[in-house]
Amino acid sequence: NFTPNAFVDEMVAELKEKLGNDKVVLGLSGGVDSTVAAVLLNKAIGQNLYCIFVNNGLLRKNEFQSVLDQYKGMGLNVKGVDAGDRFLGELAGISDPETKRKTIGRVFIEVFDDESHLLEDVKWLAQGTIYPDVIESVSVKGPSATIKSHHNVGGLPDYMKLKIVEPLRMLFKDEVRRVGATLGIDPELLGRHPFPGPGLSIRILGDITPEKVRILQDVDSVFIEGLKSWGLYDKVWQAGAILLPVNSVGVMGDERTYEKVVALRAVESTDGMTADWVHLPYDFLMKVSNDIINKVKGVNRVVYDISSKPPATIEWE
Ligand code: XMP
Repeated sequence: NFTPNAFVDEMVAELKEKLGNDKVVLGLSGGVDSTVAAVLLNKAIGQNLYCIFVNNGLLRKNEFQSVLDQYKGMGLNVKGVDAGDRFLGELAGISDPETKRKTIGRVFIEVFDDESHLLEDVKWLAQGTIYPDVIESVSVKGPSATIKSHHNVGGLPDYMKLKIVEPLRMLFKDEVRRVGATLGIDPELLGRHPFPGPGLSIRILGDITPEKVRILQDVDSVFIEGLKSWGLYDKVWQAGAILLPVNSVGVMGDERTYEKVVALRAVESTDGMTADWVHLPYDFLMKVSNDIINKVKGVNRVVYDISSKPPATIEWE
């Protein structure tokens, strides 16, 4: 029987005891887990917590600036690092899903390491790891059994030499949200859908270009805003759009078009380990499809993914 208030009191006391006057660095992702971890640590050690929020150029539309402003408004000691060009430069020409993940993981560590070297005497690295992350990265380990390499667990290079603190390591997602609510975090932020660390890169099948990122950000934004305005966002566990590496023929006025196809995906799940596709209303799908094709230049066809996990996965890569 989990009680968020008791968890907060005990964890804050434990963190104070463990960390004393040490400096701690934490990477904020804009997601629920790292945010709750940061607020909890902030409550325990205040300005000795140094948060770094990296823009990898693969976040949702306008998300870097709006989330950074939100973090500052919450009183977190946070630095925004805009490394979008660096990530997209390193990803140019890469199509293989695992190579994308590894590249992003490596560049993230490089950027993060550069930033944490600017801080003096940091002793700890805090992470928003939650229980399912721990389980999944253990269960998919092994040379033949690797399904997808989640880069946010264990990928720390030796030279960082920091001790690790993971206050949410024993919690499930719903417990993290309840802890966040107890800490007074904005319900909208706590209700955000999960979003993968490699961001839109694993929703752009094939190689990644700035133009493809722009198209997918626009499509995703129409879809997510549509879900919100139809009151569907909170009924869905995770949603997003995928940019397919195919063109299809269409017609616009009297003109033949030959443009990109996007897939929409919305799933119900409790922990991401299994998932069912959501029966979104046809009227909604019709409206959002029209909006996407009318508003996003370069897209002339929208399809809806009706696959569940297993045997499909939530992400396409
Ligand atoms: P799959 O596609 O494996 O996704 O069914 C399950 C959940 O994990 C997220 N996901 C990731 N998260 N790094 C992350 O931080 C990753 O490499 C990664 N791959 C998938 C996915 O968005 C879903 O919530």
